[in-house]
Amino acid sequence: MKRKTINIGELGVNIFHLWEKEWFLLSAGDFLEGNYNAMTVAWGSLGTLWSRPFAQVVVRPSRYTFFFMNHYDTFTLCRFPGEYQKALSYLGSVSGRDVPGKIQIAGLTPEAVPGIAAPGYAEADLLIACRKIYWQDMDETHFLASDILSKYPGGNDFHRIYFGEVCHCEIADQ
Ligand SMILES: Cc1cc2nc3c(=O)[nH]c(=O)nc-3n(C[C@H](O)[C@H](O)[C@H](O)COP(=O)(O)O)c2cc1C
Repeated sequence: MKRKTINIGELGVNIFHLWEKEWFLLSAGDFLEGNYNAMTVAWGSLGTLWSRPFAQVVVRPSRYTFFFMNHYDTFTLCRFPGEYQKALSYLGSVSGRDVPGKIQIAGLTPEAVPGIAAPGYAEADLLIACRKIYWQDMDETHFLASDILSKYPGGNDFHRIYFGEVCHCEIADQ
């Protein structure tokens, strides 16, 4: 996919549609070391914090990607054309811990991203590259809406929240 670099402020998309319907592939680790993993995410945000453009993602400790999010400084969020929805469903249901080649099995081609260690993908039509600036674990005693706990059936595995400063953004050149 041919993409052009843009300023994230020029991203003219419906953010809610992006997260809820199109989803992202969250990737962390080091592409050149060949040590990385990826998982589908649909909960998160894009915005401004501390005068910086940020992407915020939430990852449960049980995910294999959790290890990479904690041990590496950067992560990417990638969106794919509609025909890859099946691939994203697969990457959101199978763990890289059990199936080490899941990214290739899904038909995606990892590639280097300028300036950061985490991988991007040749097939992505939107790439948002981030450098971690903050993390915090969700605290169940701070859940104010009564239905939130139902998202955690075991009463544990509360998400860790990561904020990354957007350091690079590319979108399909059409
Ligand atoms: C559409 C969709 C959205 C998801 N969003 C999240 C999310 O925001 N946070 C999370 O921890 N897991 C989310 N998941 C679940 C992970 O993608 C899934 O558990 C994945 O297999 C973890 O892979 P890993 O163990 O290789 O990291 C989502 C799954 C799907 C299908």
